[in-house]
Amino acid sequence: MPKSRVQFVCSQCAAEFPQWIGRCSDCGAWNTLTEQVNSASTSAGGSAPGLHQQARRARPKGPAQPRAALTLPQVADHDQTRFPSGYGELDRVLGGGIVPGSLVLIGGEPGIGKSTLLLQTAQQLSHHSRTLYVCAEESAQQVKLRAQRLEAPPSDQLYLLPETDLEAILQELEQLRPQVAIIDSIQAVFFPNLTSAPGSVSQVRECTSALMRLAKREGITLFIVGHVTKEGAIAGPKVLEHLVDTVLYFEGDRFQTHRLLRSVKNRFGATHEIGIFEMADRGLLEVLNPSELFLGNRDEPSPGTATIVACEGTRPIVVEFQALVSPTSYSSPRRTPTGIENNRFLQILAVLEKRVGIPLSKLDAYVASAGGLVVNEPAADLGVAVAVAASFRDRIVDPRTILIGEVGLGGQVRSVSQMELRLKEAAKLGFKRAIVPKGPVLQDFGLKLIPVSKVLDALIAALPGAADAVLEEAALAQDEM
Ligand code: TYD
Ligand code: MG
Repeated sequence: MPKSRVQFVCSQCAAEFPQWIGRCSDCGAWNTLTEQVNSASTSAGGSAPGLHQQARRARPKGPAQPRAALTLPQVADHDQTRFPSGYGELDRVLGGGIVPGSLVLIGGEPGIGKSTLLLQTAQQLSHHSRTLYVCAEESAQQVKLRAQRLEAPPSDQLYLLPETDLEAILQELEQLRPQVAIIDSIQAVFFPNLTSAPGSVSQVRECTSALMRLAKREGITLFIVGHVTKEGAIAGPKVLEHLVDTVLYFEGDRFQTHRLLRSVKNRFGATHEIGIFEMADRGLLEVLNPSELFLGNRDEPSPGTATIVACEGTRPIVVEFQALVSPTSYSSPRRTPTGIENNRFLQILAVLEKRVGIPLSKLDAYVASAGGLVVNEPAADLGVAVAVAASFRDRIVDPRTILIGEVGLGGQVRSVSQMELRLKEAAKLGFKRAIVPKGPVLQDFGLKLIPVSKVLDALIAALPGAADAVLEEAALAQDEM
């Protein structure tokens, strides 16, 4: 019986080699050879083993028919009847529910809660569809114990398969024909015909492609768990992300209870949507009103605190930022941001020093978002700038005021997208005033809008009783310029 042949291919010049060598003798690149299964050698033979049997069956028999091009209206509509996962937060990130036959990759650091999320989802799904949970990392007993802890109602449609051999998994998928299957995790699954270790790029790629071929043919929806490497990419990174329909990342600080599910690629919906969960004693709970999670105690406001509205996809989230500036005891002062990118923080501090006249070069500066939420968009700039200035003067920003705007290097306040969405969320949470960039705003949702064009104007508006020596001096200095 012919065995599938393994070969090594240079990822730079695509030269093929029968065995691994450190340097490609064609293009001279180092360490570019990856292992691959030579499918040509197997499809020529009679009955090749498992994986290739699946692959061959997926192909139509006989010579390939040339396909004629179609106009757009001629193309048959794709039936996109989605079904709910049982968790609104997951459905939102998927673009409004699960698309039957789709392949979803869920990445995240070990221990963040991927298995918990998918086991809970499997339990929900099993009430209306046959669901297979392949636990390649844990025994069936361990999973059962966890399932009991989650206190989810049992369903006899939920099947567990503690298996790591890809061919056994494919066989079970064909026999059981579940509507949904979960592979936890792809790094633990291996294809025995490859010599490389489970979790290597070639193993992860071959296993994912084989699972995908079967799932697409049988219309099985697949959720695949992938651990991320230290660098933050799913092992076998780009290869996997190209193969699948949707890539979700499950993130969060292990010392905080909230977890974010982010979509970074979605063939069936918008990206940058987020779903928010909270890790509790009995598993993950959905957070339906996230803004409350990222707001501090507004009845006892503290100096150096300002509130902003971030937009994650189509979802506005109100987040509180706290800043602290204090005399440094180091030769170069410390700049420690949590919740915004380091370079953005340095830029905001430079603008405060140069354009507003706040001397920060001998002061340590810290800023942190409540709940540790990372805000990647520039709409948080103005809030962070005001928080730092307020901490410098030990002032309290009115807790009913929200700040929205990007800060330019010249000290100007720039407009941001989705303004109405942000204002609506702030109004819903009881904010009364909004310091916003100058420009047209269609609706104010009952908020008193204070349009500003410079950071300095925002500081004067945000810090009540602004007869502040530094600000006045800075204002005078600016006028004279
Ligand atoms: P897990 O889902 O195993 O993470 P992953 O699959 O991403 O590696 O989650 C593990 C963590 O979650 C573990 O540290 C314990 C915690 N946890 C809870 O706090 N409550 C729970 O009900 C469960 C099941 C787990
Ligand atoms: Mg796990």
